[in-house]
Amino acid sequence: MTLTPTPTMTMTLNEPLLTTGNTAKLYCLNWIAARAQAGPLTILDLGCGDARNFEALLRRYPAVQYVGIEPSAAACEQARRRLAGLPATIVEGYAYAAIRERLPRPAYDVVVSFSVFEHVYRRLAYLQLIRACLGPGGHALINYDCGHFRSTYWKERLKNIVGPLLARLGQEGYYQAFVREADFRQMVAQAGLHIVEAQSFNTPLKGVYKHIPEAQRAAYMQRWLALEAWLNESAGIVYDDSLAGTWFSRNFILRAESG
Ligand SMILES: C[S@@+](CC[C@H](N)C(=O)[O-])C[C@H]1O[C@@H](n2cnc3c(N)ncnc32)[C@H](O)[C@@H]1O
Repeated sequence: MTLTPTPTMTMTLNEPLLTTGNTAKLYCLNWIAARAQAGPLTILDLGCGDARNFEALLRRYPAVQYVGIEPSAAACEQARRRLAGLPATIVEGYAYAAIRERLPRPAYDVVVSFSVFEHVYRRLAYLQLIRACLGPGGHALINYDCGHFRSTYWKERLKNIVGPLLARLGQEGYYQAFVREADFRQMVAQAGLHIVEAQSFNTPLKGVYKHIPEAQRAAYMQRWLALEAWLNESAGIVYDDSLAGTWFSRNFILRAESG
């Protein structure tokens, strides 16, 4: 049975999910997959880590060209191994202006940033790179999480304190800081971008996912994403920073101010 493709569901009931365990990422990957079905697509992934988010999508849509940027040399190596043989390039470095000349092309149809912005030290410069890399009619899909700032785990608490101090001394690798909604919106405008969609994902149903038996996980993901999509679209909840403990991820679709 074929379903009408929308970001809140996978393409067909028989196709495996493009990712699992995180509704913000699944929503974005479904959104991108709907685009990829229509024809060739170029994607730039800022802070790609080991590129695990895009392996399934690249295997399913051979006309998608993917470029990942990642400052960790070890993660770059893992990403290159994972995507070997696929139309993908991994560039090592931070996602600020200087990296642009090392990218295989200057502009992209889709720029993504999944679970990175809360770790970015120079946030305006990062958003300015997104703006610079958006091709005509391009979209940026960006999500970030607040879990690090709610955690009781000592390592996270230490990073919340030490990360910002080290970043001021030139070591960005451990940086993390809560993203305030008003700051984000202000920086988006300053970077020459505008918000076309703002949503929240990853409610405490994320915790329930861990208890779901493997065989039921795909079904659970569909229902979890559908419920959160309904909450975003129809429940009338107005997000502010005080809700960050209930909605662990903010998710935005951005376009260039003139795009
Ligand atoms: C939590 S991981 C997310 C990785 C991947 N996007 C994912 O969803 O699995 C955050 C990543 O952001 C990278 N990162 C941190 N600051 C960055 C920056 N300024 N530019 C690019 N990547 C950055 C880190 O090296 C790390 O790999």
